[in-house]
Amino acid sequence: MKAQRILILTVFALFAWMALMVQANLSTTTQLEADPMVDISATSIKKEDPLAEQFRHVLKQDSKLRDDIMNRFQEYLRVPTQQPKPQYTKVVDFLLDWTRRIFNVKENELVERQVSPRLRVAENDQIKYYIYSCKPEKPSFILTWKGKSPQKGSIMINSHTDVVPVDKDQWKYPPFDAEMVEESTGRRVYARGAQDMKCVGSAYLEAIDRLVQSGYQPDRNLQVVFIADEEIGAVDGWECLSHDKQMMSELNITFGLDEGLASGENEDVIPIYYGENVAWWFEITAVGNVGHGSQFIKDTSTEKIHKLLRDKVFPLREQQQLQMRLQTKNPREKSQPSTVVTINLTGLRAGHTSKETGDFTNPNVIPRTATALFDMRIPPHIDLVETEAMLQEWANYVNGTIRFIEQPKVNPITDLTDATVKKFLNIVNDRMKTELRIFPAATDARYPRRLGINMIGYSFMPNTKVLLHDHNEYLDESVYLESIVHYIAIIKRLLDE
Ligand SMILES: *[C@@H]1O[C@H](CO)[C@@H](O)[C@H](O)[C@H]1NC(C)=O
Ligand SMILES: *[C@@H]1O[C@H](CO)[C@@H](O)[C@H](O)[C@H]1NC(C)=O
Ligand SMILES: *[C@@H]1O[C@H](CO)[C@@H](O)[C@H](O)[C@H]1NC(C)=O
Ligand SMILES: *[C@@H]1O[C@H](CO)[C@@H](O)[C@H](O)[C@H]1NC(C)=O
Ligand SMILES: [Zn+2]
Repeated sequence: MKAQRILILTVFALFAWMALMVQANLSTTTQLEADPMVDISATSIKKEDPLAEQFRHVLKQDSKLRDDIMNRFQEYLRVPTQQPKPQYTKVVDFLLDWTRRIFNVKENELVERQVSPRLRVAENDQIKYYIYSCKPEKPSFILTWKGKSPQKGSIMINSHTDVVPVDKDQWKYPPFDAEMVEESTGRRVYARGAQDMKCVGSAYLEAIDRLVQSGYQPDRNLQVVFIADEEIGAVDGWECLSHDKQMMSELNITFGLDEGLASGENEDVIPIYYGENVAWWFEITAVGNVGHGSQFIKDTSTEKIHKLLRDKVFPLREQQQLQMRLQTKNPREKSQPSTVVTINLTGLRAGHTSKETGDFTNPNVIPRTATALFDMRIPPHIDLVETEAMLQEWANYVNGTIRFIEQPKVNPITDLTDATVKKFLNIVNDRMKTELRIFPAATDARYPRRLGINMIGYSFMPNTKVLLHDHNEYLDESVYLESIVHYIAIIKRLLDE
C-alpha cells in the first residue's frame, strides 16, 4: 500500500516535472521568436535570369563597355554633393541627362511643368520625372518608369545623392576625383560616396539602361528615387517627402529597396536589412547641494551623475555587450550592435564656465546642476514603453529630470511574410549568400517604413571593407559591375507580373 502511494506520488511528481519542462521548452520557443535574428532559408527553385547572365557574359568580353560604365560611375562620384553644401542642382541635372540618354528622349520631348512651388514634372508615354524640392536649393529627382499595370502598386529603388564631408589629408587619393587605381585585386575607385551610396544609385541606372535596351516592358511601375539630405537627418529629404500625401499617393509604393552595408573583408555574405535601430537622445540632469569647494558637501549634483553612470548606465552597457556575444553562435552576429541596446555617454556639463572661451571659471564652487547626455540605440524587438520607464527610473534614482532630444516612439520592421518581400528574398537567395539583419544606425528607409511600406536595405558589396563615412572609401570594379548584373535580375523580377 505504502509502496503504491510512493509510486503514485513519484508518477505525479514526474508529470509535474514534465509539465514544467514542456513549459520551459515553450518559453524557450517564445524567446526565440522574439529574437532579432531571423533565420529564413531559401526554399525557392533556382530561376535563371537570362538577361543578367547575358550581361555578365558581355561585360567579360567588352572592355569598352566596362570603361564606359566605370566612367559614368566616376562622373557621378565627382559631382560635389558633400554636406554641408551639396550641389543638388548639379546632381539633378546629371541624373536627368543620364535618364534622357537611357530612354532615348529627343531634344524637345519632355517639357517640364511647374506643378507647385515644390514640384516640377515632365512625362511621355514611357517615363515621368519629378523634381521635388522641399527647399528651393535642395531638389531631389524621382524617375517613374511606367509599367503596364500601375494598379498593382509601385516598386521603389531609393538612394540618397548627398555624401558626408571628408578629412582630405587622411586620403591616399583626392576624395572627389574618383581616381581609378590598379590594385592587386583589379581596378578600384577611391571616392567619397563609392560605398555610401552613389554606387547603388548609378548601378540602378545602369541596370535600367540594360533593361530598356533589351526592349523589356515592366508590368509594375518603377520609382527610382534620388533623394537629398539623408546624411543630415532627412528633414528636407525623405521626412518631408513622406509627409506629402499627394506625392506619396501618386508614387503608390508598395515595396522599396534602400541602402545596406558592405560585407567586410574576406566575407561574401550579403546582409539584408529588414529594420533598423532607433536612436534615442536624452539628457539627465541632477540637482544637488551647493557650497564651498573646501567642505564635505553631501549629495552634490556631480556625485549623483557619477552614481547614475556607475549603478545604471555602465552596468547596462556591460550586460548588453555580454549578451551580444552570448546570444548567438553566428560569428558575424557577435559583433552586431543591432541585436542589443547600446548606450554612449556623449556629453557632460557642470560647473561655471566663461561664455567666451568655455573654460571653467570657478574651481571652488560646487555646481548646483550636472547634466549627462546619452546616445542610445534600440533594436526593433525591444519594448520602447519599458525602455522609457527604465530611463525614467534612472532619473528618479538620482532625483533628476530627463529630457528627450530625439525619441521616436515607433520602430516598425518590414513584414517578411509579404509576397513582394518574399519574392525579393527569393531572388537574392538564388543569387548570393545572404543574412537577414537589423541596420545598426538610421537610414532613409525609416520614413517609408513608418508609412507601412515594406523596405529592405541591400547594397551588394561582398569582400569589401566597410568604409562608409571613413577615409579612403573605395569600391572594386568587379564588385560594382557584379552589382549591376544582380540589379538587372532583381529589378526585372520585381517588376514582372
Ligand atoms: C524539450 O525540447 C528538447 C529539445 O527540443 C527535447 O529534447 C525535449 O524532449 C523537450 N522536453 C519536453 C519535456 O518536451
Ligand atoms: C496603388 O497600389 C495598390 C496596391 O498596393 C492598388 O490597390 C491601388 O489600386 C494603386 N493605386 C493606383 C491609383 O493605381
Ligand atoms: C558606444 O557604446 C557601445 C556599447 O554600448 C560601445 O560598444 C561603443 O564602443 C561605444 N562607442 C563609443 C564611441 O564610445
Ligand atoms: C532623493 O530624494 C529622496 C527624498 O527627498 C531622498 O531620500 C534621497 O536620498 C534622494 N536621493 C538622492 C540620490 O539624492
Ligand atoms: Zn547612406
